[in-house]
Amino acid sequence: MKISKLILLLFTALLAFSCSEDKEEEFVPPVNIQASFEYTISEADPFVIQLNNTTEGTVSFTSVWDFGLGNGLEDDMPGIEEVRYNETGEYVVKLYVIYDGLTTIDSKMVKVDENGICPDGFCGNADDSSLKAAATTFSVGTITRSGWVTAGGKHTDILKKEFNNLTSEYEMKMNVMYPSEGSYNFSAGDAIVDFAMANDMNVHGHALIWHNATPSWVQNFSGTNAEFETMVEDYITTTVTRYKGKVRSWDVVNEALEDGSGNPLRNSVFRQKMGDDYIRKCFQFARNADPDVLLFYNDYNMASSSGKRAAMFDLVDDLGDLIDGVGGQMHISYDGPSASQIQSLADGVVSRGLKLHFAELDIRANPNKDQTSLTSQRAEEQRAKYKEVVKIYNSIPLDNKFALTVWGVRDNESWLIDFWGAQDWPLLFDKNYNKKSAYFGFLEGLQ
Ligand code: G3I
Repeated sequence: MKISKLILLLFTALLAFSCSEDKEEEFVPPVNIQASFEYTISEADPFVIQLNNTTEGTVSFTSVWDFGLGNGLEDDMPGIEEVRYNETGEYVVKLYVIYDGLTTIDSKMVKVDENGICPDGFCGNADDSSLKAAATTFSVGTITRSGWVTAGGKHTDILKKEFNNLTSEYEMKMNVMYPSEGSYNFSAGDAIVDFAMANDMNVHGHALIWHNATPSWVQNFSGTNAEFETMVEDYITTTVTRYKGKVRSWDVVNEALEDGSGNPLRNSVFRQKMGDDYIRKCFQFARNADPDVLLFYNDYNMASSSGKRAAMFDLVDDLGDLIDGVGGQMHISYDGPSASQIQSLADGVVSRGLKLHFAELDIRANPNKDQTSLTSQRAEEQRAKYKEVVKIYNSIPLDNKFALTVWGVRDNESWLIDFWGAQDWPLLFDKNYNKKSAYFGFLEGLQ
């Protein structure tokens, strides 16, 4: 090859490389603009919605509406857009946002009944609807704390309106009720139980035995194994007897199974000092104290882990008629576990003739810790998951129904924010006690 050609070839290659290098220097990260809008119902006219384009982006983009009225696309005008829906029915409002040849879409259902546009897409008389009123065949529960029920205010207003089953978030666990040997402290539990009794609510006792809520004096018990077992029997007998006729059900043992493969029993102090059959012994102590109370085993990942679910059913089968029900905690995410995995948990409990408690339902909207706010899209995905879970629960036979408990009232009080160290919005009410889309997803699951 002639030198001149070689030089030309090299120059071309060099030019291409330098351009590509320039190209790398000019590389602009992909722009991610997600169409997003919110709407409110006009206070002046219940058949009018006020649309607010909340799309954010650092580059210029075009927005176009489809109001779902069958009259084509309309350019987005600056500010709030008002649209009137004269006929009852369901309309899908879409916002298309176009930039750099790409289009993203946000869509929301607008339902109109004879009274106008239905708040958050839930029709019916919003004034007297509530979760417990809509769930006619099982209790709707949540958690609370003694300081909250004694303080009154918006929290107790919502408890009274929406729920008919209460679980103490942490104050009816051994480390709180039995803080030192021979010395009980039932004051917090009594406050919650008294509030529930006064407001016609059931109480679900949580939890008599849990390795994560064991007082240090028990963890470091200095007596013999026989003395340990006697202490545990006295504790269960004293506690269950105290709340007999008030606490309808107890998680006798919580989270006894390891997460690993094979799911052996956790090597808790109870197992170490009472043997592998400590669970049966604790159920027997509780049964002896109250022949009428419902006795549950409670654990997590019962839907997402088939292995752990199988181990749980082995444990449950070994208890025979000592156990009345299973609590699947349901700490899940908007994108999993799947409906079929959740259904497998329900099917296994139903096939054994046991009560099913979806015991600690919360639905992470930010499992990947990449969200800084609850976007409309993610709120709708969370709504769909609440609807799915409630629909599965509501579809089990009446005899197997017990309660569906949401693990908290408003987002900002959820345990999982600290636990996962990231913002999240897992519950039915926002930090200002406003109903979220998730709340209406719960109701839709009952329809
Ligand atoms: O309210 C007190 C506060 O007054 C005090 O200053 C502070 C520091 O001592 O403690 C606060 O109480 C804490 C409470 O959460 C409220 O934040 C307790 O110490 C703490 O132990 C308690 O943690 C609870 C945890 O179980 C352990 O009991 C969480 O609220 C509760 O959501 C969590 O729930 C568990 C279920 O029982 C079982 N399934 C898993 C679930 C999540 O871990």
